[in-house]
Amino acid sequence: MKNTLIVAGNWKMNKSPKECVDLADRITSLLSDIKGIQIILSPPFTGLNEIQLKSPFYKAAQNCYHKESGAYTGEISLNMIKDCGATHIIVGHSERRSIFNEENDFINHKVLAAIKNEIVPILCIGESLHERENGLTEKTLYEQLMGGLKGLSILEKIVVAYEPVWAIGTGVSANKDQVEQAHNYIRKILNSIDNKHYTPILYGGSVKPDNSNELINITEVGGFLVGGASLDADSFVSIVNEMRKIRRN
Ligand code: PGA
Repeated sequence: MKNTLIVAGNWKMNKSPKECVDLADRITSLLSDIKGIQIILSPPFTGLNEIQLKSPFYKAAQNCYHKESGAYTGEISLNMIKDCGATHIIVGHSERRSIFNEENDFINHKVLAAIKNEIVPILCIGESLHERENGLTEKTLYEQLMGGLKGLSILEKIVVAYEPVWAIGTGVSANKDQVEQAHNYIRKILNSIDNKHYTPILYGGSVKPDNSNELINITEVGGFLVGGASLDADSFVSIVNEMRKIRRN
């Protein structure tokens, strides 16, 4: 049951610390009544500590290293992220999988470490165009999901994001049927691991104000992970406003 809808803005490698503060301030000031919706803003690390948010606005980091501390030049631990006020972390994003060669085992370490540190992982999974065209969508989703969640039998504080790689940053989102099919399949796998707790499944990939209404009405879509359209306060807020129309009170 989706009681609360989630909309997360992934700002990727954009915005200076000051621009992050300005964008967060503008979004929070434009949104007054958002009962039933959880908003998560994910700035780059340099903006994470700078933006100040109060519930139901939350902060997510875009990456971490799973070790607690030590000689890991360039890395940031979950404790550090937590000290900056982050409640969530994006893991397994396709850009990290494809550009930084992150594989399911490595992603699984991050998921487990996040849970240990009481940070909610937003585990991203999704097939490439090649995989879709070759009938490998379900196989890919299964492997990424089972690989990312390895070792877990209780899925209590986890969010999954279905992000078909071919829809990210392309302006072409997956269509209603494709999203519905993928989300139903993901729900089936999640239920086979733990059918007592509800894990929200977000959709991500070219979500915009003009396609958000159709997509949010799909039963298993529990919200969105928004990239490009989250960099502009007005378009991000328009997406949230579309969600408000179906929010659960
Ligand atoms: P997009 O990005 O909305 O720009 O397609 C989504 C994402 O990468 O999470």
